[in-house]
Amino acid sequence: MSEYSVPQESARVLRDKILGHPCHKDLPIAAQKYVDFVKFSGQDAQLFLMSAVIIEGVADPRLREVISNLVRHLHAFCRESRVTRPEFQAALKVLARAGQMTDDTRDEVLLLTDVLGSEALIDDITRVVERDTATVTAHMGDSIVHGFDEAAHAYLHGSIVDSETGKPISGAELDVWEAAPNGLYEQQDPDQPDMSLRGIFRTGEDGKYSLYCLRPTTYPIPDDGPAGDLLKLLDRHPMRAAHIHFMLKAPGYKTLVTELFDREDKYVNNDSMFAVKPSLIVDFVPRADDPKAQYTAQFTFRANES
Ligand SMILES: [Fe+2]
Repeated sequence: MSEYSVPQESARVLRDKILGHPCHKDLPIAAQKYVDFVKFSGQDAQLFLMSAVIIEGVADPRLREVISNLVRHLHAFCRESRVTRPEFQAALKVLARAGQMTDDTRDEVLLLTDVLGSEALIDDITRVVERDTATVTAHMGDSIVHGFDEAAHAYLHGSIVDSETGKPISGAELDVWEAAPNGLYEQQDPDQPDMSLRGIFRTGEDGKYSLYCLRPTTYPIPDDGPAGDLLKLLDRHPMRAAHIHFMLKAPGYKTLVTELFDREDKYVNNDSMFAVKPSLIVDFVPRADDPKAQYTAQFTFRANES
C-alpha cells in the first residue's frame, strides 16, 4: 500500500504529508491520488495539484512551506475578492510603477507595504521567531516631502544595556537621524547642510548616552506615488507620528534599528505606517535651566547578543 493511499489517515494529515514531503518526481501523482481519495473537485483539486506541481522541484523545506502558502492564499484572495482581469492588470501596473519609482533615496515598494501595515506585522513576527528581547524595532526610514511646525529642542539621554543581563554596554554606537521642522531629511533638502540633524554617539564605560536634538515633528510620507494613491483611495491621511530614528551597533550585539515617538504627538495613535509600538513612546517633559533645550526625554535601549 502506498503511503498516499492509507485510508485511515485524515484528509488534513495526508495533505500535509504530501505538501511536506521531500522533493520527489512522483509528487503530482501522489497529489492526484490524494485528490481522488478525498474527492476534491473543481477549483480545490486544481489548486491542490497546482501547489504540488509548483513545489515539486523544491528541496528546501522553508521554501516549500512559503510557496505552498503563497499559492494557497493568493488563490483564496483572488477567489474571495472575485478579482477580474482588468483589476489584476491595474494592480500589476501599481506594482510596476512602485518599482519604477524606487531608487537610492526612495523605496516606494516598501512604502506600499508600510501603508498596509505589513512591515509592522513582519517586525512583530521576526521578534517572536527570533525570541528577541531587545528594544522593539521599527522602520529603517522613509522619504518625505514637506513638513510644518517649528520644532523645539530636546535633551535626550539614557542607557544602552544588554537585553538579558541589563549590563551597561560601553562603546556602543548610536546613529541618530531625524527630519527638520520642514519635514525634510537633509539628503532631500538642498537648503540643509550635509549631515544636518544626524549624528553618531558612543556610550562611555557606564553605557550611558546623551545628546541634543529637535523634539520631532510630524510629516507626510511621499504621496505622489502608488502608496499615496492608495491612501487617497482609502480616505486615509499620509502623516507619520513624530519620531526620531536610531541605529544601534555594539561589538558582540545584533544591530538594532528603531524609532522613538512623542507621546503628545497628534498622530501617535494614528501613524500612517502603523510603526508606533507602546514601548517606543517617550515623554518629552519640560527642562529647566538649560539654554539649549526646552524639553528632555529618557530611553533605555536593550540590545541582543549576536
Ligand atoms: Fe522618518
